[in-house]
Amino acid sequence: MARTAVVVALPHAELVAVSAQLAEAGYEAIEVETADDLEALLNQRRDIGVAILDGENDFDRTLEMYALLHEEGRNVPALMVVAARALDRMGLAGRAHINDEYFTRPYSAESLRWRVEAMLIRAEVLPDGVRGGIIEGEVAGAPNVSGDYRRGQIVIVFNPKGGVGKTTIALNMAALLQIRKGQRVLLVDCDTVTGHIASSLGMENVRTVADAWTEDLTTGADESFADIAVVHKNGVSVLVMAESPLHTEILEPRRVAEAITAARRVYDWVIVDMHPDYGPLNQVIFERADKIIVPVTPDVPAIRAAVQFREVAVELDIRERLAMVVNRANSGVSVSDMERIVGMPALAEVRSAGMLFVRAANEGRSAVERFPKEKVIEDIEELCERMIATRDPSAAKTGSGFMGIFGGGRNTNPSVRAS
Ligand SMILES: Nc1ncnc2c1ncn2[C@@H]1O[C@H](COP(=O)(O)OP(=O)(O)OP(=O)(O)O)[C@@H](O)[C@H]1O
Ligand SMILES: [Mg+2]
Repeated sequence: MARTAVVVALPHAELVAVSAQLAEAGYEAIEVETADDLEALLNQRRDIGVAILDGENDFDRTLEMYALLHEEGRNVPALMVVAARALDRMGLAGRAHINDEYFTRPYSAESLRWRVEAMLIRAEVLPDGVRGGIIEGEVAGAPNVSGDYRRGQIVIVFNPKGGVGKTTIALNMAALLQIRKGQRVLLVDCDTVTGHIASSLGMENVRTVADAWTEDLTTGADESFADIAVVHKNGVSVLVMAESPLHTEILEPRRVAEAITAARRVYDWVIVDMHPDYGPLNQVIFERADKIIVPVTPDVPAIRAAVQFREVAVELDIRERLAMVVNRANSGVSVSDMERIVGMPALAEVRSAGMLFVRAANEGRSAVERFPKEKVIEDIEELCERMIATRDPSAAKTGSGFMGIFGGGRNTNPSVRAS
């Protein structure tokens, strides 16, 4: 197999770590220091698949390099590495040329490698204008001509009954969207009572939102969710609300809801795993959700709980956002009976997978990473594809070039148009 080369123009420490990861994945990492180096390289080689640029330090040099990637009929996708805070502030999310992407610091070299791999795969197998299964113009964060931004989708996973698979579905959906669909995903553990997302992903002593906001009281900082989140090695940004159910006063529901809403500018998907209750925190989050996934297992208590939730949703005026996912679909009551009784069509079905989810969690990984070939992962993929297909169409807008983003310079992609 021909090796694909990846240009790496990053500060030294990052360069070493990233190059090692890329080499391990079978790519040739080529270090580039100046725009002249890059120009010489581009004139010489045609197998550069992606260029990783530093979008934060020595910005002039980065702009020069970016221009070279798109000059003279070249169209080498750029992966810009920037600080989450900067990105959030500048409202840059997704404002890239259709093939360009950004990556937020701090990051793990391994997660960057996943992203590069995803970019290379897309460049190879997808026709122009399609990005990770999403048609051009639907890229999250892309601005429309009047300058407002395409927003990521807030998806909450909720059923008032415990043990129906909320956490399992939230976690694996997040991993699949990130790894297989090249999406930027923030996975939020909003279950402040029995949440176990971090431990299921092998992440210990994670700094929580409650920790961060408590510290902020003394430091005066005001950290966004993107700042506080920790990136798992699969690339998903993971955010835990609180470690202990006793110290959650700081998690003022409105503030949490605002922070989740702001995160849409940085991520394509904000997936929220909820505790099974109708408390004030959950209620404000329901309000902000674009979609509410309701996992239902084929048994009477879970079906009852879903029927109850549908009634509550009518009262809260969020009924239209509900989508049932039949979990452990191949057992008990049939899917068509469930649709009839619950009064919602099933968006997708996830089969029962024995101990597979438990085994993956014991190893600190999602089942998407641990058992990628299993049928149940095809079910999760199908669910994600339906989520992508049914995402809020009102927000579909056009992208523009990085040069446009940073002010000055021309838009190097004439094919970008208003949709
Ligand atoms: N499709 C499935 N196949 C096999 N096991 C599953 C499946 N879905 C969920 N499980 C298992 O069922 C158990 C409960 O799932 P999970 O923790 O995701 O439920 P939950 O709705 O989040 O529960 P809680 O309300 O307590 O937060 C877990 O051990 C999980 O591994
Ligand atoms: Mg749970």
